[in-house]
Order: sequence, then C-alpha cells, then structure tokens
Amino acid sequence: MQRTLIIFKPDTVQRRLVGQILQRFESKGLRIAALKLLQVDRPLGEKHYAEHQGKPFFEGLIDFITGGPVVVGVLEGNEAITVVRSMLGATNGAAAAPGTVRGDFSISKQNNLIHGSDSPESALREIALWFRPEEVVDYTIDGSQWVFGGA
Ligand code: GTP
Ligand code: MG
Repeated sequence: MQRTLIIFKPDTVQRRLVGQILQRFESKGLRIAALKLLQVDRPLGEKHYAEHQGKPFFEGLIDFITGGPVVVGVLEGNEAITVVRSMLGATNGAAAAPGTVRGDFSISKQNNLIHGSDSPESALREIALWFRPEEVVDYTIDGSQWVFGGA
C-alpha cells in the first residue's frame, strides 16, 4: 500500500469542483488518510514547489497557489502515486487527455486543478511538509478486500 499527497489547488476550490474530483479518487478505490482546507502562505508554497525555483513561471505559480484556500490530502492504495498521476493527466490542461481530471476540467498550463506527488521520495517529503504525523490516520475500510484483493 502506498501513500501520495494531493492538493486541490485554489482554482478547484473556487470552481467548487472539490467534491466532484474527490469522488473520482474514492470511486477508484483510494482511501482518504488525511484531508484539510487551509490558506497557503508564500514560504510553504515556495517549499512545496522548490524544484521549480528560478523557472519563468515560478513567481506566478506561487501567486496562484497562495491566491485562495487549498484542500490538501493524503490518499492511500495500491500504486497510489502512479494511479493518481495517471488520473490527473498531462500538466497542460489544454493537452491533457479527455477522461483525466485536467483533460475534463482544465484548459490552462498553470490552473490545472490538482497536484499529485510524482515519486515515492516526493510523496514522503510532501506528506511531512503538509501534515503532522498524527493528522495522517490509519484505519481500515470495511470490505476493502473487494477493492484491493489480488493486487
Ligand atoms: P504538480 O502536480 O502541480 O506538481 O504538476 P505537474 O507535476 O504536472 O507539473 P510540474 O511539477 O512540472 O509543474 C508544477 C506546476 O507548475 C504545474 O502543475 C502548473 O500549475 C505550473 N506549471 C508548470 N509548467 C508551467 C508552464 O509552462 N507555465 C505556467 N504558467 N505554469 C506551469
Ligand atoms: Mg510536479
């Protein structure tokens, strides 16, 4: 079982798409291990997107991620990191395949709705950045053998 960090970026909250997109992850079989809404400050936004520091879109990206509240969560399941990334689709919403979150709801390079960790190392770093250990909850969903069996 693997954990990944997701962020419903400010465009998702403002467009009131949080419930609809969270439903996709739940329907896929992923378990919600943590979830909260918060206003991101610039230091946290800059830490989260540190790998992009110096790129031409960096300042705009920090303006965007701090421009309104986000909902941040941890999802758990078989191969959760790649499963979530494939459900999100390509970074640029205009190029993302229909059927993916970005392909269905975004037409922008920047305002692409959801972040998902891109590797096991990123997931560990990002979960520790956004959540205290006690905020990430271990529990079993009744009947989960029907979802996870044979993985
Ligand atoms: P995240 O899950 O948010 O990390 O997206 P990603 O992994 O698909 O893309 P990447 O890490 O390369 O970029 C991080 C974020 O920066 C993207 O999700 C976009 O919001 C933004 N971004 C990336 N490339 C561009 C770009 O060329 N122009 C603009 N304006 N924003 C970009
Ligand atoms: Mg990324």
